[in-house]
Amino acid sequence: MLQHKKILLGITGSIAAYKAALLARELQRRGAVVRVVMTPSATEFITPLTLATLTGHKVYSDFTENKDSGEWTNHVELGLWGDAFLIAPATAQTLSAMVSGTCDNFLMAVHLSSRCPVIVAPAMDLDMFQHSATQANLQTLQNRGVPIIEPDSGALASGLEGKGRMAEPEAIADWMEDWLQKQAPLNGKKVVITAGPTHEPIDAVRFIGNRSSGKMGFALAQELQSAGADVHLIAGPVQLTAPSGVQVTHVETAVEMHKAAMVAFAQADIGIATAAVADYRAKTVVSNKLHRDEMPPAVELEENPDILADWGKHKKSGQFLVGFALETDQGEDSAKLKLKRKNLDFIVLNSTMDQGAGFGTDTNKISIFEKNGKSHIFELKSKAAVAQDITKLIMTLLPQ
Ligand code: PMT
Repeated sequence: MLQHKKILLGITGSIAAYKAALLARELQRRGAVVRVVMTPSATEFITPLTLATLTGHKVYSDFTENKDSGEWTNHVELGLWGDAFLIAPATAQTLSAMVSGTCDNFLMAVHLSSRCPVIVAPAMDLDMFQHSATQANLQTLQNRGVPIIEPDSGALASGLEGKGRMAEPEAIADWMEDWLQKQAPLNGKKVVITAGPTHEPIDAVRFIGNRSSGKMGFALAQELQSAGADVHLIAGPVQLTAPSGVQVTHVETAVEMHKAAMVAFAQADIGIATAAVADYRAKTVVSNKLHRDEMPPAVELEENPDILADWGKHKKSGQFLVGFALETDQGEDSAKLKLKRKNLDFIVLNSTMDQGAGFGTDTNKISIFEKNGKSHIFELKSKAAVAQDITKLIMTLLPQ
């Protein structure tokens, strides 16, 4: 969930500030982009140089970048940059300043300017934490929608034992992932995606296949997972690695793909068929390699199951179905027929006529036709960006 997330890490003046370096590292290890803002007192516990080196970004703690030239740091830009503003450690002083809206240092100015959710991980001595003023401040922040990452109990820097130690960096990163998952628009939704080609054997070494690389289906898996969905990819023979956390079932033939897809669709909220499934297979498959003089002049074919059409037949109320149509001409009429015949919510048309679209490319050019007659035409863009467009439309049309 932290992949490509922009986390603004606020560090305030507590001995736990040293753990912020490990936290920045852990968030980045999980894919987040981290930028750091510090209070002046935090810079006495850990240097901005350490954090700038670890994050690869300038660290901000002052309103002015260069006093002589009058260059100033834009707290508004930083406040708008993050997907989340995580203040860890958050001292009793900072919590109190957040409640009153005090703006006496750069971090507090960023706090007042930020539009993203603000999260705090308090760190202080046990009596400070238990003090009714601190507890009242935490309650006020919580009432305003600021989530609190509870401190741990244990040995404190003062030598006392009790609750007040900032949660460990790994635990904070876990918390952030859980929280992002719950915020995600497709949290709790199960998606099954067919991707890639199928290979239909003729003998031990030959097959009927096509040029699908699986890129379109894998890009969709990545995008839908980022939107919080629980994604299951059913992939034909492809040379791609699935995004981590995505369940993958590898298959070779249309019959295998059909079997896996029907089981998965019974539990799914959304089905997306990007696979280029072979419509026919060899009626008889020879178990050894046919030699040149043994090759039949023709291979007798029989029809494969139509996976998407079967999903359409079994579609229950609340399930959402997306199909693709690969055409070699403009293809609008043919795509619209498939939309209807396969009982889809919308169909994505791509044509080999458009340069950079279809099989194997990193880009695609699509048009979408909804079952209610609406259509959307898109420019050529990366398959990742195409996946974003498709995901956005699914989120708009998905039954609540
Ligand atoms: O994998 P890439 O290299 O990234 O290329 C992406 C793609 C071109 C394969 C993809 O964008 C695409 O268009 N996929 C559908 C290809 C196709 O088989 O189209 P079709 O018009 O023949 O089939 C219509 C729909 O029925 C498709 O959703 C297909 O997955 C599905 N189908 C077709 C036949 C069959 N036996 N079972 C099916 O489920």
